[in-house]
Amino acid sequence: MTASSRPSTVSALLTELVATAAAAAGHDGVLDALEPASPTSNPSFGDYQSNHAFRLGKALKTNPRAVAEAVKAALPVHPAVVRADVAGPGFLNFHLDDAWLAGHVVAQVQDTRGGVEDRGQGRTVVIDYSSPNVAKRMHIGHMRSTIIGNALHRLYEAGGYRVVADNHIGDWGTQFGMLIVGWRNWLDEAAFADDAIGELERLYVKFREEAAADPTLDDLARAETAKLQAGDPDNRALWLKFIDISMVEFNGVYDRLGVRFDETLGESAYNHALPGVVDDLLDAGIAVEDAGAVVVRYPDDHDVKAVRGKLLVIRKQDGAYLYGTTDLATLEHRLSTWSPAEIVYVTDGRQQLHFQQVFAAWQAWRAHRGLPADGVALRHMWFGTLKLPEGMMSTRKGNVIRLVELLDEAVRRARAVVDEKSPDLPDALRAEIAEAVGIGAVRYSDLSQNPQSDVSFDWDRMLAMEGNTAPFLMYSLARCRSIQRKADLAPGETPLAPAANGALVHERERALLRLLARFPESVAAALETQRPNLLCDHLFEIAQAFNRFYFDVRVLDADSDDQRAARLALVELSAAVLSRGLGLLGVPALDRM
Ligand code: ARG
Repeated sequence: MTASSRPSTVSALLTELVATAAAAAGHDGVLDALEPASPTSNPSFGDYQSNHAFRLGKALKTNPRAVAEAVKAALPVHPAVVRADVAGPGFLNFHLDDAWLAGHVVAQVQDTRGGVEDRGQGRTVVIDYSSPNVAKRMHIGHMRSTIIGNALHRLYEAGGYRVVADNHIGDWGTQFGMLIVGWRNWLDEAAFADDAIGELERLYVKFREEAAADPTLDDLARAETAKLQAGDPDNRALWLKFIDISMVEFNGVYDRLGVRFDETLGESAYNHALPGVVDDLLDAGIAVEDAGAVVVRYPDDHDVKAVRGKLLVIRKQDGAYLYGTTDLATLEHRLSTWSPAEIVYVTDGRQQLHFQQVFAAWQAWRAHRGLPADGVALRHMWFGTLKLPEGMMSTRKGNVIRLVELLDEAVRRARAVVDEKSPDLPDALRAEIAEAVGIGAVRYSDLSQNPQSDVSFDWDRMLAMEGNTAPFLMYSLARCRSIQRKADLAPGETPLAPAANGALVHERERALLRLLARFPESVAAALETQRPNLLCDHLFEIAQAFNRFYFDVRVLDADSDDQRAARLALVELSAAVLSRGLGLLGVPALDRM
């Protein structure tokens, strides 16, 4: 037990037992790191397996099996462990005690963090996600950044970090000059009143078309950008209007997706700091002048392979600053404002080189100033492309898919499923369920795939009631709640203690308990690898095990009161873990579907 008396994970507990035994057997300090115990792939081998003794034997160049026997003999007695076996070339397999495990799951569920290890210990992580560009609709890449970034946001918080979620919107740059020219020449007031952001997009496209025929428009746009940057009141007012319009659009999407930011510090917030960044990098010899521009050059033997021989322009010949310059200023601001232990950037894979270059330039700058190398971990959490099938929208306007329209389509399709499955529920409730299922399905279908693969988007699959989908998980949770309603229990009202009374011995109950106990381990794994899909996989396993339990085991009409109470407790434990898990993914949890 930790100081806060959080139950340690089963893995941590067994790892600790093995370490104690290995030390008692005289093998202290042989290996640098402990091999953590992990769940066995086949339950007939036991519940958890440790490879530590095997690794010890290898390191000591003796028979690993003999080492494993010695470690096993030295294992301290612990109520969690019924039996340990040496298996194969020197693995230790552990069989857990059912009643102990049930008590352990109860303690995890009662813990405010669900038993998830406190890795952050209050340290700060800044997560830069969503970060769309103003005056355009959010495109699909921003949808992935928003959903994956928000899942990381929730996972980091669950792991004991203080999270600063910063929406680094693209609210500065040359597109504003174009929009200002477009606005003054071609604004359609009626269209603007009807669909403000749509009209801004049209003006931008219109400008591009007109400028292709008349290049003097480009000069005009540049002049308007320069006026804006010099503080011209008319241009500033227009610029602020464009940002406002965009934020209304973005916030509508964020509200529906359950996303919130602590900060929305866009590119413009760093404008004043850009000259200083360039001067500092020049002074430090990290950047050099090159034909009137200022560039950072990365040598061919640079430590970071990706940047070798590359070039990052931080000021153009005409004096304009670039995306990388802004990112360097942003990084400095974040470090001095929040002293984070980590900064995570969530964007699509095409920005990998950009971030490698920014990080490498900043590392050189850091070293130049004598700052500690381990001060902050910079992580670019990139993701693959989302492939949208042809004809996926029943209503298509233009060739850009608005995120709001995509959400509406998901909800419309979910509504059809709800109407079919639950025609008796009142209309308003069906609408509410459809909104939750539609949004949940969009989030979950993205999160349940490996972020770094190209992922597909398939309405039928993501809305299916079977399989690794949001509706299946949500339905499994609603099923727990429905059992509780039949037992006249409100959610959370079920006494949990009876789970540990020794009545949970059915194969289905034992399998379910073991999966529930692993929840904190899967949260930690998802956080550590930044792959929320690991948590999705685990919740899917839990939901499957719950349904098997429900089909094979009688809960409400169990043989004895003790058994009934224990099974009802197991239903509540399942519900608690599922709803906590769905919460970490931002998938709404419903009591009824
Ligand atoms: N606005 C950028 C885009 O739409 C993403 C910004 C990501 N964050 C950053 N600090 N560069 O591609």
